[in-house]
Amino acid sequence: MAIKTVGVVGTGLIGASWTGLFLAHGLRVLVADPAPGAAEKLAKYLETIWPTLAQLGPGLASGASLANYEFVGTSLGERFAEVDFVQENAPEKQQLKTTVVGEIDAKTRPDVIIASSSSGIPSSQFVSECRVNPARVLIGHPFNPPHLMPLVEVVPHPGTDTAKTEEAMAFYRSLGKKPVHLRKEVPGFVANRLQAVVCNEAYSLVTRGVLSAEDLDLCMTSSLGPRWAVTGPLVSNAMGGGGGAEGFRHFIEHLGPAFDSWLEDIRANRFQSTKESLDLLMARVDEALSTSDAGALEARRDRLLVQMLRLLSES
Ligand SMILES: NC(=O)c1ccc[n+]([C@@H]2O[C@H](COP(=O)([O-])OP(=O)(O)OC[C@H]3O[C@@H](n4cnc5c(N)ncnc54)[C@H](O)[C@@H]3O)[C@@H](O)[C@H]2O)c1
Repeated sequence: MAIKTVGVVGTGLIGASWTGLFLAHGLRVLVADPAPGAAEKLAKYLETIWPTLAQLGPGLASGASLANYEFVGTSLGERFAEVDFVQENAPEKQQLKTTVVGEIDAKTRPDVIIASSSSGIPSSQFVSECRVNPARVLIGHPFNPPHLMPLVEVVPHPGTDTAKTEEAMAFYRSLGKKPVHLRKEVPGFVANRLQAVVCNEAYSLVTRGVLSAEDLDLCMTSSLGPRWAVTGPLVSNAMGGGGGAEGFRHFIEHLGPAFDSWLEDIRANRFQSTKESLDLLMARVDEALSTSDAGALEARRDRLLVQMLRLLSES
C-alpha cells in the first residue's frame, strides 16, 4: 500500500527533523507531542531547515509544502486511523515506549508499520502491550539529524514480519535514505556501538591530558572522518594492506599484534563516568567550546554536510 500520510509521535530533536524530511518528500504528516509549546517550536524548526531540505538530493518533491502537516495535539488519538506509517520518537525510556507503542498499535490500521527511532533499546523490549499486531513493529533508527544523515538502521524483533521489514527498507530508500538491515537485535544497534567505542577512547585521551579537546576533534575530522566517509573501516583496511581481500589479510597480519597491544592499554585506561572524571572532561570540553556559538556550529555542520553528501551521492 502506498504511504501518503505519516504519523510522527514526539516532535523533539528527532521527530521534528523526520517531519521536515517527510514533508520535503511530498508526504502529508500528522504530528503529536505532549510538551507545552511543542507546536510553536516545531513550526520554527521546520522554517529553519526548509531551505536546507530544498538543496538536498533532487530537492523538494512536487507538492512538497510546509502546509502539509498538522499538529494534532498531545496524541494522535483517533487521527491514527488516517496514517499509513508511524515514526515514533518519544524519549528513550523502555516503559514509556511500551505505553506509547501499545497505544499506536491499538489505534492504527493493523498493517501499518510502526517504526521506532529508539537509539539503543531493541523493539522486543517494548512490544509487550501491542495486542493488535506486534509483527509490524520494528526499529527505524536514524542518525542525527535524520533530515540530512543517510543512515537508517532497520532492526526487526524476532516476531517482526519479514515483509514489513522489506516494506520499511523500501520506504526509507524512497526518502533518499541508506537503510541497513540488522539481522539480530543488539543493544545500541551498530552505528551507536561504533560511536560508543570511539567516544570512550576520545574521553579517555582528553582526560588523561594526552591532547586538548580541540585537537582530539581535529584528529578525527582530518583523518578517519573524511576517509571513512568515502570507504568504511573494512574497505579502508583492505586498501591499507595493498587492496582486495588479500590486502585486508595482510593489514590484519601486519598491524593486528600492534592493535592488540594498544587495545590492552585502551581497556586499562577506559573512561569511566565518575563525578571526578566527568568534571575533568567537562572542563576540557568547555575550553574547546567557550569561544564558539552553538547556532553557528550547527549551521556550518548542516551547510558542509549538504555539500559533502551531494559529492558522495554523485560519485
Ligand atoms: N538525539 C539523538 O541524537 C538521537 C538520534 C537518533 C535517535 N534518537 C532517539 O529518538 C527518540 C527521541 O529522541 P530525541 O533526541 O528527539 O528526544 P527529545 O527529548 O528531544 O524529544 C522527545 C519528545 O518526545 C515527547 N514526548 C514525551 N512523552 C511523549 C509521549 N507520551 N508521546 C509522544 N511524545 C512524547 C517530548 O515532549 C519531546 O518533545 C529517542 O528514542 C532517542 O533515543 C535520538
